[in-house]
Amino acid sequence: MKALLSSSSLFLLLLIFTTLLSPSLSVRCNPNDKKVLLKIKQALNNPYILSSWNPDNDCCKWYCVTCDSTTNRINSLTIFAGDLPGQIPAAVGDLPYLENLEFHKLTNLTGPIQPSIAKLKKLKFLRISWTNISGSVPDFLSQLSNLTFLDLAFNSLSGSIPSSLSKLQNLGALHLDRNKLTGPIPDSFGKFKGEVPELYLSHNQLSGKVPDSLGNMDFNVIDLSRNNLEGDASFLFGSKKTGYKVDLSRNKLEFNLSKVEFSTSLTSLDLNHNKLFGSIPEKMTSLSLQFLNVSYNRLCGQIPVGGKLQSFDYSTYFHNRCLCGAPLDSCK
Ligand SMILES: *[C@@H]1O[C@H](CO)[C@@H](O)[C@H](O)[C@H]1NC(C)=O
Ligand SMILES: *[C@@H]1O[C@H](CO)[C@@H](O)[C@H](O)[C@H]1NC(C)=O
Ligand SMILES: *[C@@H]1O[C@H](CO)[C@@H](O)[C@H](O)[C@H]1NC(C)=O
Ligand SMILES: *[C@@H]1O[C@H](CO)[C@@H](O)[C@H](O)[C@H]1NC(C)=O
Ligand SMILES: *[C@@H]1O[C@H](CO)[C@@H](O)[C@H](O)[C@H]1NC(C)=O
Repeated sequence: MKALLSSSSLFLLLLIFTTLLSPSLSVRCNPNDKKVLLKIKQALNNPYILSSWNPDNDCCKWYCVTCDSTTNRINSLTIFAGDLPGQIPAAVGDLPYLENLEFHKLTNLTGPIQPSIAKLKKLKFLRISWTNISGSVPDFLSQLSNLTFLDLAFNSLSGSIPSSLSKLQNLGALHLDRNKLTGPIPDSFGKFKGEVPELYLSHNQLSGKVPDSLGNMDFNVIDLSRNNLEGDASFLFGSKKTGYKVDLSRNKLEFNLSKVEFSTSLTSLDLNHNKLFGSIPEKMTSLSLQFLNVSYNRLCGQIPVGGKLQSFDYSTYFHNRCLCGAPLDSCK
């Protein structure tokens, strides 16, 4: 018992000794990166959220950043939910090993998407969302060829969507929803060369026709809701598609729903508030839908009986020209 105690207290002593010594022995932080981070902190007026950025400590141990385990260079800067008044500092472009850059839920962050971000060629993940940044979606983003995720949702961005974004071959998801974007959806969005990204463009002021070219793509998720899109969009569907979610609600789309073939992979379909005509195709009874809304259109005829179609309540179908049958009133 005594021997055990002494060996364990020796171990404890050793542990205390090594942890006391280690900071000075193994500073991983790259001095250039440290300088840049301190510049960023200063440009943001030393916000509380960055108070761990103390020049006396190893910057690889600061909050909101991480260092690559082999190069020890800063590879991630993630600032989330704080009071960050001001603009994105130009110095972020001087962290050349950055793969991850995130400014999220910072409603006091204003100004444009910082142009120096164009220098960050290693970026894979870029999220600037729930902020008050404004200006346009810059064309230079298309040069960040390693981007797999681009999220600029919930901001005050305006202007049109740059068609060059379709050059991003590795992009798995593109979120431009909840901004003030205008103009058409670029034709090039039907020509993504590599990966077909999940596409979120909802809650903007996009107008014109949905480009036919989008029919060539097989989007897992496509959300074009709450825009001013018009005309036909039936080409987004097809029995050979493999996507599971389509939301086209609250636009001015106008096509005959009777003729549309849906793929069996579809589980969520929202078409409410458009100008769809025709009737609900019989084949929709074979879909494993978890969500359906075709309300506020110009549909007619009996709701086919079977599958999931009667599992939805009347609000899935109401406000159409003459739809009838369960869960609506029976057909006359
Ligand atoms: C933004 O700034 C205002 C005024 O300084 C402050 O009251 C508010 O809490 C800030 N917002 C956030 C999310 O910190
Ligand atoms: C930021 O956006 C919010 C909501 O979008 C708004 O209420 C607020 O006034 C904006 N703040 C600034 C500083 O622009
Ligand atoms: C992009 O990623 C690939 C694979 O991870 C890497 O080999 C390449 O160097 C990266 N490109 C740049 C510009 O960092
Ligand atoms: C919609 O398409 C169906 C099937 O092709 C056709 O019978 C119907 O007349 C069309 N409805 C309208 C309003 O054009
Ligand atoms: C369908 O959409 C309408 C219009 O937005 C809404 O009132 C209704 O609650 C929705 N129903 C379902 C089941 O989503």
